[in-house]
Amino acid sequence: MELKRAIVTGASSGIGQAIAKMLETQGYEVFGIGRNFDGGESSMHRMVIDITDTGALVEAIDDIGRNGGIDCMVNCAGEAFYGLSESLDTEQISSMCRVDLEAPMIASCRCLPYLRMSRGMIINIASVTATRINTHGACYGALKAGLLSFGRSLYEEVRKHGVRVVTICPDLTSGTGLYRNASFEADRAEGCSLYPEDVAECVRTCVCMREGAAITEMEIRPQYNRISKK
Ligand SMILES: NC(=O)c1ccc[n+]([C@@H]2O[C@H](COP(=O)([O-])OP(=O)(O)OC[C@H]3O[C@@H](n4cnc5c(N)ncnc54)[C@H](OP(=O)(O)O)[C@@H]3O)[C@@H](O)[C@H]2O)c1
Repeated sequence: MELKRAIVTGASSGIGQAIAKMLETQGYEVFGIGRNFDGGESSMHRMVIDITDTGALVEAIDDIGRNGGIDCMVNCAGEAFYGLSESLDTEQISSMCRVDLEAPMIASCRCLPYLRMSRGMIINIASVTATRINTHGACYGALKAGLLSFGRSLYEEVRKHGVRVVTICPDLTSGTGLYRNASFEADRAEGCSLYPEDVAECVRTCVCMREGAAITEMEIRPQYNRISKK
C-alpha cells in the first residue's frame, strides 16, 4: 500500500505531538513542524520552522507537496494569552493572530493544489472557545471562531474536488503547554480535562472515514467542568 503523507504543525508538543504519533500508527509518513523538538523516539521528519515565517512555511509545504504529495494537512500549532483584554499587549495580540489564524489559513490554501490531487484532507484544531463567549479569552476565542468559519466555507468551496475540511474543537486538555501564560490550569481530578490522545482519537476517526463521507466538525469535552487556580 502506498504510504500516505501528512504535515502536522505543532508536532513538537501536546495535542499536535499526539496527533503525529497517531498518524504514524495509521501508516502515515509525518512531516512535523515546530520550533523546539525534544529528543523523543519518532520516525517523524522534524522540521524546525516558525510558522509566522510565511516564506519558510510555504517553501516547506511546496517542497513536501512536489516531492511525493500531501494527503493530510493538520493545523495544530497554537498560542494563547488569557486575561482581561486591556491587560494584553499588542505583541501578544498580533502573535496570536498570526499563529492561530493567519498561518493555518496560509498553510491550508497553499496545500490545496496537492490535496486536490490526493483527494486529501485539512484538519484544523480550533477550540470550544470558537462557539462561546470567552471572558478572559476574547481575542483567542475570536481567532478560533475565525478558524471555524474559514473551515466551514473552505469545505463548501473544495468538496467538489473530493477534498475534506474538518474543524475539531477540543475543550480543556491537560499535559500540554498551552496554559503556560494562564492563571488557571486543568483540575487534576480524573475526567476534568481531556488528554492529547483523546483529540488524536478524533483525528483518527476523521482520517479513517470512508471516502464519500466527511466529518466536518467535532467538539470534544471532558465529562466534568472544573478548573484550578494556579
Ligand atoms: N490545551 C487545550 O486545552 C486546548 C483546547 C482547545 C484547543 N487547543 C488547541 O490545540 C492546539 C495545540 O495546543 P496544545 O494544547 O497542544 O499546546 P502546546 O503544547 O503549547 O502546543 C502548541 C504547539 O504549537 C507550536 N507553535 C506555537 N507557536 C509556533 C510558531 N510560531 N511556529 C511553529 N510552531 C509553533 C508549538 O511548537 P514549539 O513549542 O516547538 O514552538 C507547539 O508544538 C492549539 O491550536 C490550541 O489552541 C488546546
